[in-house]
Amino acid sequence: MEPIMIRTEQTGPILTITLDNPPVNALGAAVRSSLAQAIAAASEDPGISAVIVTGNGKLFSAGADISEFGKPLADPQLPDVLATIEACPKPVIAAINGTALGGGLEVALACHYRVAVTSAKLGLPEVKLGILPGAGGTQRLPRLLGVEAALKMIVSGDPVSAAKALADGLVDKVVDNGDDLLAAAADFAHSPACPTGERKVAGDAAAADAFVGANPRLFKGFTAPLACVEAVKAAASLPLTQGMAVERRLFLKLVAGEQSKALRHAFFAERAAARIDDLPKNIVRREIRRVGIIGAGTMGGGIAMNFLSAGLPVTMVETSAEALERGAALIRRNYAATAAKGRITIDQVEAAMALLDPTLEFGALADCDLVIEAVYENMEVKKQVFGRLDAVARPGAILASNTSYLDVNEIAACTSRPEDVLGMHFFSPANVMKLVEVVRGAKTAPDVLATIMALGQKIGKVPVVAGVCYGFIGNRMLIPRQDNALALVMEGASPEQVDKVHTDFGMPMGPFQMTDLAGVDIGWHRDETRIDNLKDALCAQGRWGQKTKAGFYDYDENRKRSTSPVVAALIEEFRQREGITPRTISDEEIMVRTLYTMVNEGALILEEGIAQRSSDIDVVWLYGYGWPRWTGGPMFWGEREGFAKIVAGLEQYMKRMPEGFTISPLLRAPQAEPIA
Ligand code: 3HC
Repeated sequence: MEPIMIRTEQTGPILTITLDNPPVNALGAAVRSSLAQAIAAASEDPGISAVIVTGNGKLFSAGADISEFGKPLADPQLPDVLATIEACPKPVIAAINGTALGGGLEVALACHYRVAVTSAKLGLPEVKLGILPGAGGTQRLPRLLGVEAALKMIVSGDPVSAAKALADGLVDKVVDNGDDLLAAAADFAHSPACPTGERKVAGDAAAADAFVGANPRLFKGFTAPLACVEAVKAAASLPLTQGMAVERRLFLKLVAGEQSKALRHAFFAERAAARIDDLPKNIVRREIRRVGIIGAGTMGGGIAMNFLSAGLPVTMVETSAEALERGAALIRRNYAATAAKGRITIDQVEAAMALLDPTLEFGALADCDLVIEAVYENMEVKKQVFGRLDAVARPGAILASNTSYLDVNEIAACTSRPEDVLGMHFFSPANVMKLVEVVRGAKTAPDVLATIMALGQKIGKVPVVAGVCYGFIGNRMLIPRQDNALALVMEGASPEQVDKVHTDFGMPMGPFQMTDLAGVDIGWHRDETRIDNLKDALCAQGRWGQKTKAGFYDYDENRKRSTSPVVAALIEEFRQREGITPRTISDEEIMVRTLYTMVNEGALILEEGIAQRSSDIDVVWLYGYGWPRWTGGPMFWGEREGFAKIVAGLEQYMKRMPEGFTISPLLRAPQAEPIA
């Protein structure tokens, strides 16, 4: 028999319908049809005077079943189911037992009353999937909250707490204890059935336009947010049924669009990245109760904050008292800044700081279950540190390096326990960026890998497994991009032109802006008399990037960027030195040589087994480098662009590519299955 995925129970004249579709009570076809039937039957049944809708498990509902998108949607459609709920002549009360998102919240909005537990979060995250709430969310939410507050929720996609929902009138009552929820819902059983759709909307089109004007950041690049605004404007000016028709039209257009496909890909890619296909099932993870960090620099401090914020004690080791104090002070300053923005409380700052144990005693690491080395990026230094660590760390402790390029196997080999060693490559600023590349060494034990993947998720990161190679997934893909960017400048482009192609594409910054941010001097030989290339010349002049207020660009006191005449002259000097006559470079050539080459490198990475799956590469670039999410990541984008087109583009500029450049056979081979 088909699963019906809801449960119904009648207590006296009250019927309780429980959504029961684990793990998240998604509103797939079976749930929709059972819910509609149960409500229709209750409407007719003289023995029932009120209906409560609730969810089984931790969530009320995570909304529509995202995996159904892109296929023809089976009837009944969610808006029709919700119209049945709203039209029920008996009061229908949503008992929101946990988080209600998207279509889940729309179910609650169609109910006549809403009661929630304190822990529930309520949100309409559809915009993050490139769509808009398509089951009346854009019509009913403004009727409860007014135009501005509704737009804030719909366009940001961020959920609100039950307390805020109560204060704003989104829910009618909040209960602390989940056990009291159904009774609290039943208190509304004698109230009149009052459809949300019959309420008036506070606010008008001008309020919607004002919201757009005040929040430009929310609209950059994405198509869905403006459609949300159009739908909310319809809510403000039209009766429910007509507004619903506008919403439906916009929803169907968005759901079929490229951005939504890409954003849905990103959603599932992130979840897939957590899976390691070749690990034994039911693996027992090691327990991590205390974390050690070697190095209290910007990186070490940022890494420490992740654990402190998650309630895990951290031992932070440095070699000088001054560096240690500076590191601890920086952590406190970062927390204080977050508290000043109202994102955490002072008590939370103090609680996190109380878990930090800064020390000069390397031996203190003996207590730690995981030690992360975050020292200078130099193999000899790292080897020394791991040798020392091997001598003090307790048996079974996991030893991780935060190296961004170096060979984790070589590092592991200078310990007596290479099976306990792996890479944990955090991205700067490490307390903010969500990506962690978990670098699996040749000898890394399966339970070590599983432990670190789970721990990464626990501290709110998106961990992605990478194999050992120079630069792993993310930084390795930077290499052809940066090499070509420099070559293009030598051949006739300006840094501005190259960067603009990237920012127009949607990247937060271009290759040269990124070099200036990271430091032009990274990897520099530090010999001012040896000038082999343009970067050496910049470094020799002290143009080390934003930190020295000069790099490929000039920077003012506020880090505002401007074109540098000095750099322009240097470029010209280098061209003359190498006998290059500058030519006009097209944006298309920049695109091929700096973006197509990344897709190609990604394909090589996949072929070599450095990444488990193509979508993992997308996750790395989405979460580590700000690749525009609406394109789905480099591999998804590459596939949509067409591998044949990419190969043709690369072949066209083959002569100009840096030495050793090869085109991945994966891009040339006709794909039986999409690789992204
Ligand atoms: N549809 C289908 N599958 C879903 C889903 C959904 N709406 N939400 C979650 N899942 C799946 C996940 O893919 C995952 O599957 P897996 O175990 O096979 O990887 C599983 O449920 C558990 O999800 P998470 O790992 O994400 O669990 P968490 O506990 O970390 O997070 C959550 C739970 C906060 C609900 C998170 O899953 C989430 O944000 N889900 C998406 C919510 C959303 O975007 N809803 C809007 C849907 S669109 C819509 O409703 C349109 C409507 O307006 C018409």
